[in-house]
Amino acid sequence: MLCYSFFLKNENASVVDLKIVNTSDKSDTLYNGELNEHYHSINGAISESLHIFIDAGLNYSKANPVKIFEVGFGTGLNAILTFKEAINKGLSVHYTSIELHPIDFNIIKQLNYNYLLPKDNLSVFYKMHECEWNENINISKNFSFKKIHADFTRYDFSDQFDLIYFDAFAPEKQPHLWTYNIFKKVYDTLSINGILTTYSSKGIVKDNLRQAGFVVKKLNGPKGKRHMVRALKNIMAVV
Ligand SMILES: C[S@@+](CC[C@H](N)C(=O)[O-])C[C@H]1O[C@@H](n2cnc3c(N)ncnc32)[C@H](O)[C@@H]1O
Repeated sequence: MLCYSFFLKNENASVVDLKIVNTSDKSDTLYNGELNEHYHSINGAISESLHIFIDAGLNYSKANPVKIFEVGFGTGLNAILTFKEAINKGLSVHYTSIELHPIDFNIIKQLNYNYLLPKDNLSVFYKMHECEWNENINISKNFSFKKIHADFTRYDFSDQFDLIYFDAFAPEKQPHLWTYNIFKKVYDTLSINGILTTYSSKGIVKDNLRQAGFVVKKLNGPKGKRHMVRALKNIMAVV
């Protein structure tokens, strides 16, 4: 496994120990040494993101335009793969993402997505990173984008969303992000047929989702992971 190390001073002035790690599908992810946690599965960063968020989330949703909210912008991989899929499928997307610890652009540029993404997607990917925080920008006619620099635990929604990509660090590392209160906040902001997708199928996660009102379905996980979860707001919907 190939690794490069950096010490990143982020905008919150805390030092985070990050390493670039090449995963099994040849796409890079980051390793956070402070939390001892990867940003994506080491069994394939791009394939995990496609499986959990694009296939089980975006492609399952019937909303078009679709309003997406991501918990944890991180490397921006989910955002750029959503853009790519939206172009392929002719979808109109309003994408909002929240991040407490933005990653330095010098590190982002060293991820091998510059080899793996088509050239026109790469320029969009860089634009997503370089644009101002907390401002709505039109990436294309059918794709608007906003990244919010804030702590999700303190964030109050002012909009309604159709699809939540719940991509915080694991419940073992960040239990305060996988609670009943957090999922209730997410539930309340979803439209009637709203969907949440996430990689964690831990018992406590499913219990807290159900308590918040979601209908929870365990799905097959990506390579190296038995299960993932898709949770629906509409109790009449078939998950
Ligand atoms: C698993 S990584 C996300 C991966 C990201 N979606 C990607 O494609 O790279 C979890 C992300 O959640 C962010 N995060 C952790 N706690 C947060 C909080 N309280 N509010 C907002 N973001 C948070 C982390 O900084 C990290 O970028």
